[in-house]
Amino acid sequence: MKTFKVAVLISGNGSNLQSLIDNFKKESLIDIKCVISNKENAFGLERATEANIDNYFVDHTKFRTREEFDQELIKILEEYDPDLIVLAGFMRILSELFVEKYIGKLINIHPSLLPKYPGLETHKKVIENKDSHHGVTIHYVDKTLDGGPICAQSQMEVTTDNIKDLQNQIHQIEHEMYPLVIKQIAEGKLEFKDGEVIRT
Ligand code: GRF
Repeated sequence: MKTFKVAVLISGNGSNLQSLIDNFKKESLIDIKCVISNKENAFGLERATEANIDNYFVDHTKFRTREEFDQELIKILEEYDPDLIVLAGFMRILSELFVEKYIGKLINIHPSLLPKYPGLETHKKVIENKDSHHGVTIHYVDKTLDGGPICAQSQMEVTTDNIKDLQNQIHQIEHEMYPLVIKQIAEGKLEFKDGEVIRT
C-alpha cells in the first residue's frame, strides 16, 4: 500500500511531533519522512533522531531573505516529496513562494480559537481578557498570519488563571487533535479544494 508521506516543521520542544510519532507508529498508512527545525537546539530534533526519522537544522539567520531560507526548506522537502507538510510549533512566517507552492498540502496548529488571537502569547491574552473559553485550531495555511480554511477546532472552558496550567491543558487537546486530523486528510476524508475544506 502507498504510504501517506508527512514532513514536520518545528522550532522547539516538539511535543506535538512526539504525539504524531507515537500515533503513527501503529499506523501503516502514515509515514513521517523528515523533520526540519530552524533552531539548532530544538528538542524536537532529538525526538526525531530517537524515532529514526531524518532530521535537519536549517539556520534561518544564515539567509539574507525569507525566500532564500524557504528555498532551502523546499530543497530538502523535494527529496521526500511529502503529501502533507505539518507545522508543529514552527515559529517562522513562511514566504508567499513557499505557501503558494504547497497550498492545500500545508497545515498548522494554533493554540487559540481562530480567528481570535492569531500570533503569539495566546494563553496570556485569554487570561488577561478573562475569556470563558479557549481552544485549538488546525487549519490549512494561506498567505495570512495564522489564517486559512479551518480543518478542526476544539474548545475548552477556562478554569485557571495560571498560564502554565492553561498551556498544558491546550497541549493535551493538541496532542489528541493533530494526529486525528492528519489521519482524516491521509484517508481522503478531509481535503482542500478551491480554498475551502471539504469533508466526505
Ligand atoms: C503548540 O502550542 C502549537 O499550537 C503552537 O506551538 C506550540 C508548539 O508546542 N503552534 P510543541 O513544540 O509541539 O511542544
